[in-house]
Amino acid sequence: MPKTRTSFVCQQCGYSTSKWLGQCPSCQTWSSLVETIVTKSPATAASRATAIEPIQLAKIEKSSTKRVASGIGEFDRVLGGGIVPGMAVLIAGEPGIGKSTLLLELAAKLSKGKGERVKGKEKTSVLYVAGEESPQQIKIRADRLGVGDAAIQFVPVTDVDVIAQTIEHVKPTFVIVDSVQTISTNDLTSPAGSVGQVRECVDRLTRRIKQLDIPTFFIGHVTKEGSIAGPKTLEHIVDTVLVLEGDNAHNFRILRAAKNRFGSTDEIGVFSMEEEGLKEVTNASKAFLSERLTDTPGSVIVPTLEGSRVVLVEIQALTSPTTLTFPRRVGIGVDYNRLQLLLALLSRRFNSKLATLDVFVNVAGGLKVNEPALDLGICLAVVSAFKGVPVPQDVSCFGEVGLLGEVRSVRFTKQRMQEVARFGFHKVLLPTAFGEKLAELKKLTEYGEIMPVRSISQAIQAVFKGEQS
Ligand code: TYD
Ligand code: MG
Repeated sequence: MPKTRTSFVCQQCGYSTSKWLGQCPSCQTWSSLVETIVTKSPATAASRATAIEPIQLAKIEKSSTKRVASGIGEFDRVLGGGIVPGMAVLIAGEPGIGKSTLLLELAAKLSKGKGERVKGKEKTSVLYVAGEESPQQIKIRADRLGVGDAAIQFVPVTDVDVIAQTIEHVKPTFVIVDSVQTISTNDLTSPAGSVGQVRECVDRLTRRIKQLDIPTFFIGHVTKEGSIAGPKTLEHIVDTVLVLEGDNAHNFRILRAAKNRFGSTDEIGVFSMEEEGLKEVTNASKAFLSERLTDTPGSVIVPTLEGSRVVLVEIQALTSPTTLTFPRRVGIGVDYNRLQLLLALLSRRFNSKLATLDVFVNVAGGLKVNEPALDLGICLAVVSAFKGVPVPQDVSCFGEVGLLGEVRSVRFTKQRMQEVARFGFHKVLLPTAFGEKLAELKKLTEYGEIMPVRSISQAIQAVFKGEQS
């Protein structure tokens, strides 16, 4: 068999050379050359190709994609309702966040016969490609998770072609590859983990498992900056990219879909990292509010939309005199540009002294929320911290705040109201746009005070009545 020919191709401009170079001679970009296998010239392929008949839209039958529930509810939710046959899923996240733990738990659930419906097979078998840790190490983890006797088969190899052959030989119902950074092919000279290797290996495996209709989960590490040789370049090869987020200081782990060919990308799954592995958090609001100090200034509860469900989060704010020329503005879990904008607005419309203070805003529990509905909550939390007056503990709020200080409407009012009512927040501040529907909303929540506010000043008035600033 002739040896595969490879060349180094610039990812920016497409320049190709037979040797690796640090800088592309054509477009001068640094570190952009990636080793790629040279395929046969397109002319040959073009002469062999034949025309096909296009299909009428009306005649396309809706495929009845049979989904398999994995047994981990939060995981299925993020996938869009379960695992689709032949799907390639990339689970990305920082090292140590819990990817291997999650997938080992998934493997254990799947091997308990949950996947029996896949291709009418009698037994479910999970093939775990262990490139990162030895089977012994994984066994220790499995024992810790209480799944030491699960029917999982391990392949401690990293050669992608051996892995592909093994998959064909074993014909498992599910495959897990831990991780894409460790597998490689001898066809490329670059080391395992380089962009060229990662891309080629995942591409090869994905094509093979698609032929066999075997769902496969690839684990990929990302750095704090979100880049690396890996996940970013894989997004177009796989069907679904799930990102596991959180930080090591918090127990909460959020699973989010960054791309999903078989479902929405809005859903999140919430987990908590415990001694015995990742546990599903089905009542996210309760979990996020469990450690709240109710009578301290600077805390506001906001119902925020995560996918199709509403989760209550606590926004915390702290203001303090700055020791710097430019005061610091730190936002954790919130959009930094929006925070800047809201602070500028508050110092203009509420109190100009804010412009000289350091302001810190945090979403408690390590959740990242990127929703304008948070605006009103951020403003009230900052004002509360500034005044040193707590927001009454049964008050919650939501609404986008515009540049003129107006409170603007957001989606899913009813669901937000239901969630705040469920947790005993009897008073809610919301945009006036819902004026006509107030009666209906009132009935819905059965109790409580609904306070429509037109502007940020009106909201501050309503919450801190009679308090001196
Ligand atoms: P791991 O799944 O190995 O991370 P990744 O594969 O993303 O690199 O998880 C590593 C961390 O999780 C490690 O710091 C220990 C912690 N952990 C628990 O807290 N509880 C457990 O039951 C397990 C298995 C791990
Ligand atoms: Mg791992």
